[in-house]
Amino acid sequence: MNKAPQGPQRKALRWVFSALALGLGAPGAMPLAHAQMELAKAKHCLSCHALDKKVVGPSYLDVAAKYSKDPLAKDRLAQKILKGGSGIWGMVPMPANPQVSPEESQALAAWVLQLKGH
Ligand code: HEC
Repeated sequence: MNKAPQGPQRKALRWVFSALALGLGAPGAMPLAHAQMELAKAKHCLSCHALDKKVVGPSYLDVAAKYSKDPLAKDRLAQKILKGGSGIWGMVPMPANPQVSPEESQALAAWVLQLKGH
């Protein structure tokens, strides 16, 4: 059994490989961003935020675009994620997020800021 697979068998193999390539391509290319997306999920950020549309809070792509030229944005957003606040995107406040550590808050702020629309 050391012959290469043939006929229908080979076709099936090719199908499996392309399915794998499609399925793993996107997160595989950005493992860090993927981990931070998981962190945002685990910390319940995504119950009020989505990447590309307003929910209770602004979309993360809108946040990234707003501060794209602001070198101080990361620290300010990290503080805001920890302590909450309002008045930037509307009158609805973001509550404080005591389940997030200062390090996690920095990582989440950095992640949001580097997001880009397609
Ligand atoms: C209960 C809903 C809610 C949750 C949970 C929530 N947010 Fe927010 N978030 C908001 C709202 C509302 C705003 C808009 C506040 C404003 O206008 O100043 C906001 C604003 C933001 C901003 C932009 C702040 C600014 O000053 O421009 C960032 C970044 C952000 N949230 C990240 C997070 C992260 C990260 C988490 C998870 C740890 C999180 N949010 C959890 C509702 C929420």
